[in-house]
Amino acid sequence: MIVFKSPAEIELMRRAGFVVWQALERVGQAIRPGITTLELDAIAEETIRAAGAEPSFKGYHGYPASICVSVNEQVIHGIPGDRKLAEGDIVSVDVGAVLDGYHGDSARTFAVGAVSSLARKLMRVTEECLMAAIEVARVGMTLGDIGYAVQSHAESNGFSVVRDFVGHGIGRHMHEDPAVPNYGRPGQGRRLRPGMVLAIEPMVNAGSHGVEVLSDNWTAVTRDGSLSAHFEHTVAITENGPVVLTLP
Ligand code: MF3
Ligand code: CO
Repeated sequence: MIVFKSPAEIELMRRAGFVVWQALERVGQAIRPGITTLELDAIAEETIRAAGAEPSFKGYHGYPASICVSVNEQVIHGIPGDRKLAEGDIVSVDVGAVLDGYHGDSARTFAVGAVSSLARKLMRVTEECLMAAIEVARVGMTLGDIGYAVQSHAESNGFSVVRDFVGHGIGRHMHEDPAVPNYGRPGQGRRLRPGMVLAIEPMVNAGSHGVEVLSDNWTAVTRDGSLSAHFEHTVAITENGPVVLTLP
């Protein structure tokens, strides 16, 4: 069941989204060779709590940390730990916060120092996939239009989109209906209506689309070991067009 949000609720979600943006900014400023992924987790958690919010991932189905930190061939849900980032890594950071009962959810992939041209292209194209999806997140368009925007841009650049994980509705719960796949056909699927709020989150692999989950039961990696990138925003569908809630 899709829960539609009023303009007042969307305003509350903007506040949660701002906290998520702040945490991602601070984590991004801290990323450098030698920092551990657990140190990044601490920075995000401090930022979220200082804003009066709570990290929504912590304890979610037993998840042990405040953020997900996924390095190189890790796609999503990497658990922070004592791994040190190294020059040339790419690192996907996913942050969720809940403030006054409403959730924000956003992710970005960062470069650690100088990275390969393939890594740079993968990050750029994945972010472009997210922007293309947001551009079509308009009343009267469909979930298939969003998926098609992501898939067509990724594949025309020689990359592939992950199918085993999808975006989602978001509101009083981090995960609500509908599922928001990163693949699809124009005009297919549910029609977008004012008051829908979606976490749109393309995960794009440099190689093939297959993923598997490691024995920690969380970390998803590419099956072929290829690099993966992840960008996500929480986006409200309004009569005036898409509104990105996880930006200032
Ligand atoms: N941000 C992720 C998503 O978009 C959720 C992280 S799963 C958690 O679905 F367990 F870490 F919370
Ligand atoms: Co999400």
